[in-house]
Amino acid sequence: MTTPTRDSIRHQVEQLVRAGDTKALREIRDQLRSKVDRRALQQRSRLYAHNPVGWVQERLRQIVWSKQREIMLSVRDHRRTAVRSCHGAGKSHTASLVASWWLDTHPPGEAFVVTSAPTFAQVRAILWRYIRRTHRRGKLAGRVNQTEWHIDDELVAFGRKPADHDESAFQGIHARYVLVILDEACGIPEQLWVAADALTTNADCRILAIGNPDSPSSHFRKVCVPGSGWHVIGISAFDTPNLTGEDVPEPVAQALVGREWVEEKAAEWGEDNPLYRSKVLGEFSEDAPNRVVRASDIAACRIDPETKLKAEDLEPVELGVDVGGGGDETVIRERRGRRAGREWRAHTDRPEKIAPLVLQAIMESGAGAVKVDSIGVGFGVIGELRNLASQGKHRARVVAVNVSEKASKPDKFKNLRAEIWWEVGRGLSERKGWDLSVMENGDTTVAQMLAPLWDVDAQGRIQVEPKDEIKKRLGRSPDNADALLLAFYNGGRTRVRWV
Ligand SMILES: Nc1ncnc2c1ncn2[C@@H]1O[C@H](COP(=O)(O)OP(=O)(O)OP(=O)(O)O)[C@@H](O)[C@H]1O
Ligand SMILES: [Mg+2]
Repeated sequence: MTTPTRDSIRHQVEQLVRAGDTKALREIRDQLRSKVDRRALQQRSRLYAHNPVGWVQERLRQIVWSKQREIMLSVRDHRRTAVRSCHGAGKSHTASLVASWWLDTHPPGEAFVVTSAPTFAQVRAILWRYIRRTHRRGKLAGRVNQTEWHIDDELVAFGRKPADHDESAFQGIHARYVLVILDEACGIPEQLWVAADALTTNADCRILAIGNPDSPSSHFRKVCVPGSGWHVIGISAFDTPNLTGEDVPEPVAQALVGREWVEEKAAEWGEDNPLYRSKVLGEFSEDAPNRVVRASDIAACRIDPETKLKAEDLEPVELGVDVGGGGDETVIRERRGRRAGREWRAHTDRPEKIAPLVLQAIMESGAGAVKVDSIGVGFGVIGELRNLASQGKHRARVVAVNVSEKASKPDKFKNLRAEIWWEVGRGLSERKGWDLSVMENGDTTVAQMLAPLWDVDAQGRIQVEPKDEIKKRLGRSPDNADALLLAFYNGGRTRVRWV
């Protein structure tokens, strides 16, 4: 078959126009367009397949800061790249650029991108939101919907959240150039790493795993150790432009983590808190044996928000109230079955101000029980709540909990406080017995849950670091954590006085 010349095509088009054959005209237009596209693609591959940073600058007219460049070059040069990074460094943004560069510089049909994250909500709302934005701004080929990218009606990328145990999750992809992106990699179970690995065995394939190093027992941790065969990049907040002074355009600087946030977290969480190490330094911490609650346990206490919970899973609805005395905050925490929910706070130690706030929380949550720390000011709050109940203002049970009293297992625990921290804080975290994924004020509360240390007293009983000592060490009382513990505390009823 002879290749049509420019003149022969023009002649053919004129004939079709005269005949009014729009269908045939459209076919010719599509053929010409895809020919042009293919030529442009070849040129892009030549220019940018080995120059992802140039691709971002010239094709998208965007800039990437030094660590983002390092990530892009690592994906070019290494089959497996792991990025453990602080919060707000531009991880997910970079991952979206890598995905788009990959598809824009390889022929469709030969390249494929698979992305995953611990929950489908994260797949759709984080990485694919960025991919859609990059696709739109760069006027890249094809169509992108919620979690799929099609070019010439061919599927070239998708985001999935397969079942956790599904090792064959990504089977059936046979492209030569496969790129797998695992975002929020700490929450990705081992089987999916196996599935991702199986997809990327040939030398032209790549895996990019990127996330916050918040669980010391995760598979992500294993790939981040030297000798694992992964190229590992670490990003601390102290490496980012707002802290190093690296020159980036103002809108980029504004979007990235800033010095103020870093300083605030150092003060609020303490620099030896595992949350500080993970969110600020981008480093894993050890599960210290003397910490009451382990970082790896609490990081796993997340139910996928799209999981449909049965009505009984969301019962009982109860509140925990940590009453602030001496300038501390009063914190009220809601629990709905396994799920930790809303929080109400006030800076007052006056019972007549605190009780109306608790009443508001009872009304808003429909709680059937309120457990109040009865030491000091709490006693007055319990009295006020009892009055409100007798006036018919609410019908919640008011439960006084005095944590300085004897434990229900006095041979094992020094006091009730140690028992609650151990059995509720440590125990529920170990058993994934509570869901902290949608908890309001989550980071602050988790940081406080990770703060207390424990040891054994002269009688061999477990004791938990006193609140005053934690306060001295952190400069702040762990009120949010105490309210959470009370919200979930339902053991040792014999030790609880019913008001
Ligand atoms: N090079 C860049 N140019 C423009 N905007 C950027 C750039 N890098 C990051 N951003 C923006 O900075 C913000 C934070 O980026 P991103 O969400 O990727 O960070 P992250 O490290 O994944 O954060 P998180 O810790 O919340 O997961 C986003 O609004 C993102 O679009
Ligand atoms: Mg992210």
